[in-house]
Amino acid sequence: MHVNSLLVLLIFLCVFTKQIYTSKILIFNPIFGFSHVKFISKLADIIADHGHNVTLFQPYHNAMKNIDGLVKNENIKILNYYPDHFEELKKEETQTFPIFWDSKLMNIPVLGAFVMPKVLGSAFQKTATQVLKDQTVLNELKNEKFDVMMAETFEITGIYLAHLLDIPCIPFMSAVRYPIFSQLFGQPSILGYVPHIGSQMAPEAGFYDRLNDVYRQFFMSITQERLNEFQNNVIEEAIGRPVPYWKDLVKQSPIYITNSNPYLDYAVPSTATIVHAGGITMDLEKKKKPQKLTEEYEQILTERESTVLISFGSVIRSYEMPETFKAGIIQMFENLPNVTFIWKYEKDDVEFEKTLPKNVHLKKWVPQPALLADKRLKVFVTHGGLGSIMELAYAGKPAIVVPIFGDQPHNAVMLERHGGAVAYDKFELQDGEKLTKVINDMMSNQRYNENAKVLLEVLHNQPIDPKMNLMKHLEFAIKFPNHRSQVPSINEEGIISHYYLDAIAFLVAIFGVFAYIFVRLIQRLSAVFLVKKTKND
Ligand SMILES: *[C@@H]1O[C@H](CO)[C@@H](O)[C@H](O)[C@H]1NC(C)=O
Ligand SMILES: *[C@@H]1O[C@H](CO)[C@@H](O)[C@H](O)[C@H]1NC(C)=O
Repeated sequence: MHVNSLLVLLIFLCVFTKQIYTSKILIFNPIFGFSHVKFISKLADIIADHGHNVTLFQPYHNAMKNIDGLVKNENIKILNYYPDHFEELKKEETQTFPIFWDSKLMNIPVLGAFVMPKVLGSAFQKTATQVLKDQTVLNELKNEKFDVMMAETFEITGIYLAHLLDIPCIPFMSAVRYPIFSQLFGQPSILGYVPHIGSQMAPEAGFYDRLNDVYRQFFMSITQERLNEFQNNVIEEAIGRPVPYWKDLVKQSPIYITNSNPYLDYAVPSTATIVHAGGITMDLEKKKKPQKLTEEYEQILTERESTVLISFGSVIRSYEMPETFKAGIIQMFENLPNVTFIWKYEKDDVEFEKTLPKNVHLKKWVPQPALLADKRLKVFVTHGGLGSIMELAYAGKPAIVVPIFGDQPHNAVMLERHGGAVAYDKFELQDGEKLTKVINDMMSNQRYNENAKVLLEVLHNQPIDPKMNLMKHLEFAIKFPNHRSQVPSINEEGIISHYYLDAIAFLVAIFGVFAYIFVRLIQRLSAVFLVKKTKND
């Protein structure tokens, strides 16, 4: 009897509290860029797993394949939005950006600033315009009476959609950071805290590094500003009336969720508004019991004592890499006959396969997490997408990170800093001997393995669980959608008041004047003294 009534009370409490805390959340998931879609799907899963009522709204910017099954929680409602030109999109080849492999132009910040925003922005234009003009879908969404919307600060249509639906919008980013947005939430400049491409960090950094940092930071900001400006204009045209400025919309949120993890990322100054949710995509329970490898892979891993996995991710294709890069990699295969290589190579190419030595297996798809969890896999050669970096860090495996584009160069050095990985210049893939040396060093020197294991332990023992961190902040933001007391205003001022340049200049000037007067006085006095002295003599 006693136990029974307690049980009833417990069940009542569960149901009751659930009713109180369950929110209805609309998550904007524009279908563009596989890693973004994958992260947003995972984010939706986590939020739904915590009992919230989640709807994913998915307008298609391209006819992306392989996205079925990314969302695991069956309670999530998925609203696919196929634009009128979807048939055209289906005919387009999946973009694999072979130009990213070896184009040096891509790395010039000045060019990036003037080309990138238009190229990317135009890719969003058609579908975004249709969504924002579609009264039927707007009304449907409005009738659902969502508590909040969540949208990535990359394709910013969602932020305006929330504005049209008149619901608060919580911004997030699938990358480690996006400075132009972090700054709106009080995070100071990353200058000196995070190295730009080609720069050393303090204490090694010298004048050249600082100059390079300022130069790259300047054009990076311009690139980011211009991309949002471009979208802002497209959206204003679609809606047909003046809309709030993108910065003013975004910064209304009490939090900004980023995919950085404080124990993996560089130490950066931050505010309580920035939520460091990096690691939410990792499932520690699953990691303890990794999926079993198929018989085929068991066979491959027993061939030789050491196995190395090579994969450049889902966007860039190995078969499209320049021939000179391939030659370097093949040279490494030949130099290391005692190592088995598994290479994610997205094309059946019998002729190419014939030219390879026996210790190489080409695979169109690889079970990456299961392989990383296996002791027989010694090194992972990766492009450094943030998803792979997280998997690596949480697997404690040595790696060679060969960044190709986007945030990958940053991710590479971020992981290298912990001593278990080496960032390797993509142009040096041509140098088979150097590649061999690095792999050999990584397999023979236990230092890499030990450092990778330390990072793994640190991440497993981090004081605040990333998922809990995310959910607590999200639930806070839903409750107080306009709370801003935790955001400073100083970095919205101009550079002069932000860095107190006026006060410093004033004090320097005052000091200068006094110093001048003082020197002149001394001169006068000594002149008078000298004159007296000569007269006396
Ligand atoms: C989410 O809310 C809608 C109505 O607002 C309801 O029909 C639906 O069943 C809810 N889903 C879950 C999983 O609770
Ligand atoms: C490969 O292993 C065999 C037997 O363990 C050894 O004799 C040979 O020197 C090794 N070759 C290389 C290139 O390390």
